[in-house]
Amino acid sequence: MIAPSMLKCDFGNLQHEAERIDAAGLPLYHLDVMDGHFVPNLSYGAMVIAGLRERTGVPFDAHLMISDPAAFLEDYIKAGCEAITFHIEAVPDPSELLKEIRNRDIVSGLAINPETSFEQAAPYVEYCDLLLVMSVRPGFGGQKFMPEVLPKITAAREAGGPDLLISVDGGVAEPTIARCAAAGADIFVAGSSIFDHSDYETAGKRLVDAIAQSTEAA
Ligand code: DX5
Ligand code: ZN
Repeated sequence: MIAPSMLKCDFGNLQHEAERIDAAGLPLYHLDVMDGHFVPNLSYGAMVIAGLRERTGVPFDAHLMISDPAAFLEDYIKAGCEAITFHIEAVPDPSELLKEIRNRDIVSGLAINPETSFEQAAPYVEYCDLLLVMSVRPGFGGQKFMPEVLPKITAAREAGGPDLLISVDGGVAEPTIARCAAAGADIFVAGSSIFDHSDYETAGKRLVDAIAQSTEAA
């Protein structure tokens, strides 16, 4: 699944961006929420997501790069997110919040920064529907993919089994996506590799083809 990262889109014309994403058949919106505190950048929050919700029926994953995800959970549920992903580094113990998200019939996601080992997340995988492995330091689009996170994806797939969704986020592009797939990821967050192109459908297909070609070659 290719999930366009709504950090690199044209914020001056969100409706048009939604139309282009949906026409391209991209199956999941990745919504990067930044509070200027957990990460050194500020993006948008639940009000903007609620507005975008009116424009598309495609599922939303809110990637909360914020210091206090529990305090704002209700806002993102009300905004209509199908998945809510928060960072393990932001909370002392993610168990209760993951359980609460699941209890509300929303996909529960836990994100880990490049410096965080899989072992730190492992005790909570049983409460996770989705593990998001950051392959750049969170905060900005357009950064270079960090291949050293690939073994974490493999470890997560081994521990989580086939039902755990594993998302990889940061620098995912034609030269890097096949390695993420081979390691066991199934959701590929794509900012620059979609929005730097004029045709989102072709850009999405190129990413999918890059995975297929490397599988055939193997
Ligand atoms: C970074 C965000 C990513 C980012 C991806 O903090 O979580 O979703 O926008 O952008 P690219 O694909 O350009 O690295
Ligand atoms: Zn993200």
